[in-house]
Amino acid sequence: MQPFIAAMQKVRQAFLAAIIKSFLRTKHVLQTILNIWISPSIIKGENVEAEPSTQEVRKLGAPEFVEVVNKAFHGLVGRKRLVALSDGLRKQFLESMFDNPQCMLPSYNHQLPSGDEQGTFLALDVGGSTFRVGLIELSGRKSGDEECKILKRSTFKIDKTVKQLKGVLFFDWMAERIGEVLAGQAEGHDMSDAPLSMGLAWSFPIEQTSLRSGLLQGMGKGFLAAHGLLGQDLGDLIQDSCSKRGLNVQVDAIVNDSSATLLSKAYLDSTTRFALILGTGVNAAVHLPVHTFSPSKFGIRPPEWHDSAKHVIVNTELSMFGSGILPSTQWDELLLSVHPDPTFQPLEHFVGGGYLGEIVRLVLVEGIRTAGLFGGVVPPNLREKYSLDTETLSRIESDRSPDLSTAQAVFMSRHPTTIPPTPTDLHTLRLIAAHVTHRAAGIIAAGVHALWQLRNEAESILPQESSHTLVAYNGSVLENYPGFKVACQKHLDTLVEASGGTKGSIELMYAEESSLLGAAIAGAVASLDG
Ligand code: BGC
Repeated sequence: MQPFIAAMQKVRQAFLAAIIKSFLRTKHVLQTILNIWISPSIIKGENVEAEPSTQEVRKLGAPEFVEVVNKAFHGLVGRKRLVALSDGLRKQFLESMFDNPQCMLPSYNHQLPSGDEQGTFLALDVGGSTFRVGLIELSGRKSGDEECKILKRSTFKIDKTVKQLKGVLFFDWMAERIGEVLAGQAEGHDMSDAPLSMGLAWSFPIEQTSLRSGLLQGMGKGFLAAHGLLGQDLGDLIQDSCSKRGLNVQVDAIVNDSSATLLSKAYLDSTTRFALILGTGVNAAVHLPVHTFSPSKFGIRPPEWHDSAKHVIVNTELSMFGSGILPSTQWDELLLSVHPDPTFQPLEHFVGGGYLGEIVRLVLVEGIRTAGLFGGVVPPNLREKYSLDTETLSRIESDRSPDLSTAQAVFMSRHPTTIPPTPTDLHTLRLIAAHVTHRAAGIIAAGVHALWQLRNEAESILPQESSHTLVAYNGSVLENYPGFKVACQKHLDTLVEASGGTKGSIELMYAEESSLLGAAIAGAVASLDG
C-alpha cells in the first residue's frame, strides 16, 4: 500500500504544480483546468519534452524574442557565406571522390537514355513516406506519341509501422503491395508468360554492383528495413519476396531516386546532366567524367564496363556533406542533441522536409515558453518531437490574407489548444518558418552550385563559357513549399554571378513523376544493355 500512497501523492503534487504553473501563465482558472485536461501528458510526462523549471525560463517580450530569432538567422545565407559554403562543399565532394564508400557513389549508368527506349515496365518507387507502383509505357522521344504514359499508378503510405518492419519483412510488405497492383491489372492488361520487367527507384544510399543490383546500405528516414541485411543484394531481396508470392516479375534495374530524376529528364531532353531531390530527404545526381574518380570508387566491375564508360551518373548523397561548415543555430544543436544518428546526414538536418518542421517547432516552443507567444501555453501535441509537419508550415505560409484566418484554422486543426493563436502569433510563426526555409534554400543552392563548379572543372569549362545547365528537380519541398524554388533559384543566380558566370546559367526545371518514370527508363536502358 505504501508505494501506492506515495505514487498518488506524487500525482497530486504534479497536478497541483501543473495547475499553479499554468494558472500563473494564463491567469484564468477554467482555462488552466482545460489545458491540463486536454493534455494529461503534462501530468504523466509521456513522450514529451520536459517542461523547463520556472527558474530556467528567461522572460522576454514577444518583440525581443523575434529580435533574437532575426539575429540568429541574420546573414547565414548572405552572398559571402554562400560562396564559402559552396567552396567548402566542393572540397568535401572532391575528397569523397577519392575514397568515401558512403557518398559520391558512381552508378552503373554510363549512358544517358537515347530517347528511343520503348516498352512497358513496372516501376517501383520507395520514398520517405510512400511506396508507389506504376505501370509505365515508354514510346520513345521520336514516336510522335506521348513519350511516356502512366497506365496505372498506386500509392501506399509508409507509416510508422511499415518503417519499423525489420529486414525481409519490409520486402515482403512491398511484394504484397506489388501483388495487389498486379491482381487489379490482370483483367485489363495482357500479362504474357514473360516476366514483367521492373525498375526500382530507391530513396536511400546503395552501392551499385550492376545496373540491376546493389548492396543495401544504412537507411535514414526512420526505416529499419536494412536491419540485419546490410551489404545484401537489394535486387535479390525484392526478387525473393516477389517469387515467394508467385509474382511473375523480374527486377531489371535499380537506381537511387536522384539518378531516376536525372534519367527521367534526360529521356525528354538530352542536355540534362544534373538532378536534385528535396522532399523528406535531399540528394543530387550528376553526370561526371569517370577519370575524376579514384579507381577504388568503382569496386570490381567487368573490363567491358570500363572500356565503354567515359562518364557516369553519380549519386552524390548530398545529404551526407557539410559537416562542420553549415550555418548552424542553437536550435539546430538542440535538434541534434537528441537525434539518434546526428552525424549521418548533416546537410539533410538543415534542409530536409523531415526536419524543417522540427527546427521551427523548437524555435516556437522556446518563444512560447520564454516570451509568452501563443498565450504562453504550448499546444499539448506540439510538445512531442517532430509533431510540427513541414507540410503544415507550407499551408500556413501559403495564407496571404491579412487576418491569417486560413493559417489559424490549419494550425488549430492540427494543434488544438485552448488559446487560439492571434494574428501576431501566426505572423511570428511564419517569420520563424521563413527564416528556416530561406536558409534551407540557400544551402541547397550552395550544394548545386558546388556540383556545377565541380563538373565545369572536370570538363575544363570556364564558368563564363558554361552552357545553360538544366537541373531536373522533384520532391515535395521544392514542388510545394511556397516560394522555396524561387528563393533557391535566386540564390543560385547570386552564386553563379559570384563565380563569373551569367545569371540564369543554372536553371531548376521541374521533372514530373521523376522517380516512377526514371525507374521505368532505367529498366528500359538495362534491357537494351542485355
Ligand atoms: C537519401 C538519398 C535520397 C534522398 C532523397 C536521402 O535521405 O540518403 O539516397 O536520394 O534522401 O530521397
